[in-house]
Amino acid sequence: MVDIQHTSTPLQKLDSDQLSRAGITLRVKRLDLVHPLVSGNKWYKLKYNLLAAKEEGATTILSFGGAYSNHIHALAAACQMLGFSSIGVIRGEPHTPLNATLKFAQACGMQLHYLSRTDYRLKHTHLIQQQLKAEYGNPYIVPEGGSNALALKGVAELIAELGDDYDRICCACGSGGTLAGLIAGLAGRKQLEGFAALKGAGFLSIDVQRLLAEGAYVDPGNWHINLDYHFGGFAKTTPQLLAFIQQFEAEHGIPLEPLYTGKLFYGLFERITAGVYPPGTRIIALHSGGLQGRDTLMSKSCHSARNGIHL
Ligand SMILES: Cc1ncc(COP(=O)(O)O)c(C=O)c1O
Repeated sequence: MVDIQHTSTPLQKLDSDQLSRAGITLRVKRLDLVHPLVSGNKWYKLKYNLLAAKEEGATTILSFGGAYSNHIHALAAACQMLGFSSIGVIRGEPHTPLNATLKFAQACGMQLHYLSRTDYRLKHTHLIQQQLKAEYGNPYIVPEGGSNALALKGVAELIAELGDDYDRICCACGSGGTLAGLIAGLAGRKQLEGFAALKGAGFLSIDVQRLLAEGAYVDPGNWHINLDYHFGGFAKTTPQLLAFIQQFEAEHGIPLEPLYTGKLFYGLFERITAGVYPPGTRIIALHSGGLQGRDTLMSKSCHSARNGIHL
């Protein structure tokens, strides 16, 4: 990215009785290994955004996220490496001590600006953006999660790393930017399937279509989004999900986290076992990273799940 080197990442084949019985080949694209700090889909989503900021002569980047945001974590690290100042606009009230994500962002030099949940909902309005621009000297603004047409361009390049030996790509969805970028890159070939991390994410399909239109990509319609694997909503979890993550990690040696990739693999294995995919189907599942928050989220989730409450 711009001047940040990255490693080429493996497509790791999974072996299990479940997969053999269903006749499915499943490989995991290990984007979690792409860069130690700018990891997963973030590397691809930020690449052209930061390049555009540099070309515009911007010196400060401002973006938005929740207190555990992988995007904020990756952006803070990328900005530090590339010599940008950075502002993280964080949803909700400040909490001290800072959690590990925000502590890391601050240690990278990111200035944290908190917005109440009400104002945060208005973050992309002209009014709030003008206020932030005035306060921080006209920074280059990257939307929440980094999802825009420039993110799609970066994610679309990932397709070239996958070869041709597959029928379907599966990925986790938050804002839909990653799925939209993959759709753009495939240009009508293969099938794509998203797994929404949020509850009631019926709006996501429209967001994906809007992002494709913004990037002037045709929507070939070779994709759909599963809405049934949110486990209660964003950042919520259940004992089944946590047990699945622990078992998956032990069996395959690949770490997952409960916000995105845990839900993706749970849903995918459930669908494989239910016989949704014809025998012989070759699937690539995208490991989109997010491991920076894993340990805190897993221990918080275990505690919450034991006490019957959600994060
Ligand atoms: C680890 C991880 N996976 C997947 C996603 C979903 O990506 P998108 O927002 O592009 O749908 C995110 C979102 O930020 C993420 O942090």
